[in-house]
Amino acid sequence: MKIAIVGPIHEAGWEILKSHGLEVYEVTDPSPANLKKELSTASGMVLRTAKIPNEVLDACPDLKIIARHGVGYDNVDLDYLNKKNIALGITSTANAISVAEHVMTLFLHLTKNILLSDQLTRDGKFSEKSKLPNFFELYQKNVLILGFGRIGQAVAKRCLGFETNVYVYDPYIKPEIIKSKGCHPISKEEGLKIADYISIHLPLNDQTKNFISAAEFQDMKKNCIIVNTARGGIINEGDLANALQSQTIAAAGLDVFEEEPPQNNHPLFSLPNTLLTPHNAALSLECRRRMAIEACETVVHYLKDREKLNLSNLVNKDHLSI
Ligand SMILES: NC(=O)c1ccc[n+]([C@@H]2O[C@H](COP(=O)([O-])OP(=O)(O)OC[C@H]3O[C@@H](n4cnc5c(N)ncnc54)[C@H](O)[C@@H]3O)[C@@H](O)[C@H]2O)c1
Repeated sequence: MKIAIVGPIHEAGWEILKSHGLEVYEVTDPSPANLKKELSTASGMVLRTAKIPNEVLDACPDLKIIARHGVGYDNVDLDYLNKKNIALGITSTANAISVAEHVMTLFLHLTKNILLSDQLTRDGKFSEKSKLPNFFELYQKNVLILGFGRIGQAVAKRCLGFETNVYVYDPYIKPEIIKSKGCHPISKEEGLKIADYISIHLPLNDQTKNFISAAEFQDMKKNCIIVNTARGGIINEGDLANALQSQTIAAAGLDVFEEEPPQNNHPLFSLPNTLLTPHNAALSLECRRRMAIEACETVVHYLKDREKLNLSNLVNKDHLSI
């Protein structure tokens, strides 16, 4: 059986596939025309962030599983996968820690003026430190977490370590569970009003597209710092640029963009109160290795050893005839 690796992954994943006698090859050109050609005889696929249009799936008669190297799956059409009886895997245990650490990094960098301070030191302006804009403590500030799944909970834990007050908006999680983790359940509207920090951990879908737009920025405090490591499009980027320019909010940190990579003339690029990273929150060495191993194990177990399959990694288990 042939397994296509679409986008580079850690070698530990390749070793797992090969050790189970699977024929493994890498696909580097993610254009639909090339995917159709190179995936036409694949039984399985390990997928990074390339988009897989339905026409590509139509050209893959042998394909039985797509294992995402990550947890988001907005680059495939789940309904169509269900229709074609193709399993969809995710790496549910691999990346929460790395992404949560990235959120804390963005919070702290933006709060402590780290980039400006570094520049001032390098520019030989050491003694001008008191001219830098104010910076703050996280201590006893209000953090609002939108989405209390794997990553939202990992962020909450770290924020509690900084002795912040952690508020959570997630109507799908019982309030008792939120409270049992030391956090406070809150409505979206109330949360936006009291938050000093906001971190987004929602899936991107029809309900969450433009979840934070002009009206939401109007509700926020002027000192609010918002961070999005979930998916571009959950924050409306045009509205965010306006809110930052007009100082309706203080700052933003983004790891994800509506269009990736963003265009060179992206409106956020010229704003000093933003910190931007290239969708690499989950790309620490440890996390890349864990994601590669988990995705490849899902492929092996699905194709060859169902007993060992971790069912919580199979998104559409209830829709498959297996
Ligand atoms: N930047 C990166 O590299 C990176 C890495 C991993 C994951 N992600 C993204 O992070 C996000 C969260 O991942 P996760 O593993 O924590 O997902 P998850 O499925 O574990 O959690 C998502 C949470 O959002 C809640 N939710 C869904 N719709 C909601 C709504 N309309 N309002 C409020 N809450 C809602 C769900 O109840 C769930 O608790 C996803 O968008 C994922 O794609 C990004």
